[in-house]
Amino acid sequence: MMSLLCITMVFLTLAGSADSEMASSPTPVKVIAEIGDNVTLPCRGASDSSMFGSLRVKWMKVGEDESLNEDVLLSMGIHKKTYGSFEDRVFLQDSDGDDASLIITYISMDDMGRYRCEILDGVEDIIQDVILEVENGPALVSGVVFPYHPHHGRYNLNFDDAVQACIDQGAVVATFEQLYKAWMDGLDWCNAGWLNDSTVQYPITKPREPCGGSQSMPGLRSYGRQNRQSRRFDVFCYASSLKGHFYWLVQPDRLTYDEAVQACIDDRAVIAKVGHLFAAWKLEGYDRCDAGWLADGSVRYPISRPRKNCSPTEAAVRFVGFPDKQVKSYGVYCYKADQQEY
Ligand SMILES: *[C@@H]1O[C@H](CO)[C@@H](O)[C@H](O)[C@H]1NC(C)=O
Ligand SMILES: *[C@@H]1O[C@H](CO)[C@@H](O)[C@H](O)[C@H]1NC(C)=O
Repeated sequence: MMSLLCITMVFLTLAGSADSEMASSPTPVKVIAEIGDNVTLPCRGASDSSMFGSLRVKWMKVGEDESLNEDVLLSMGIHKKTYGSFEDRVFLQDSDGDDASLIITYISMDDMGRYRCEILDGVEDIIQDVILEVENGPALVSGVVFPYHPHHGRYNLNFDDAVQACIDQGAVVATFEQLYKAWMDGLDWCNAGWLNDSTVQYPITKPREPCGGSQSMPGLRSYGRQNRQSRRFDVFCYASSLKGHFYWLVQPDRLTYDEAVQACIDDRAVIAKVGHLFAAWKLEGYDRCDAGWLADGSVRYPISRPRKNCSPTEAAVRFVGFPDKQVKSYGVYCYKADQQEY
């Protein structure tokens, strides 16, 4: 039923693991998965623990300190509850009465970390730690192409503006090869944008009337080379994989744009750029069904696991718009560059 391919288990040496306060905790197990995989984190009860029916099992993700621990799943008999970003995508393997292994579906980079399984059977509780490492799959590209237009509307960028617009999003103007690959990968966009050879094109995978005709073949539609000063279009930008950490800022309030900028600074980060969002979504499987401010004043959210009320039919970055910067309706995505980056 569940594909367990690509899962390697390595037992860590004791060096570096510090769990001495847990008498019953054996050495943590290490599991390696690729983005998009389903993965099984192993955990077993003692062979007699299921005497009185199902195990009581608690899985959590261990934070840097205790206040940052996240609940993952709680199971008591037939009652099961999943939490936060794990809601509806984790379940117990339950292959026999003692099996408390956790299956996580649609792994993203964000899932990386240390997990703890606690089996409570009233006699001797069992605690097992599992370290999950997440790798980019070999098939994944090293960057992502995304269409961009600024707040003042569509078809407003001459070539120089387009170059600057991509830079402002932490990206560069895409090449023909990059757009072609993105189209092969399913990108469909019905607005023409600059490429870095100063041609203007757009990728169509589902031919339809307003986008070059419903009878036409799927492909890149090209307007050819255009005058760099006088002609105005959108742009296709290319962002390479992140050299930092993209995240949703957990905080209680809805924010204005200025408050959002400040909130990231207070978290020793900066408000994320559109390129960061697309790279986290495409290359790290980032998924969050919360609309958040980005540096260009747009509001978007990344969905890797299509579901009702978020993005029902496809994995996509959802674009809410460029709202009035004074409205207090959204949260914020932040970006913390790795130390090496100035
Ligand atoms: C992961 O599990 C889900 C739900 O059971 C299934 O639909 C999906 O095909 C699985 N994906 C892989 C890569 O096995
Ligand atoms: C377009 O991108 C390619 C590959 O990165 C680069 O070699 C070339 O100089 C770029 N051309 C322009 C006009 O920016």
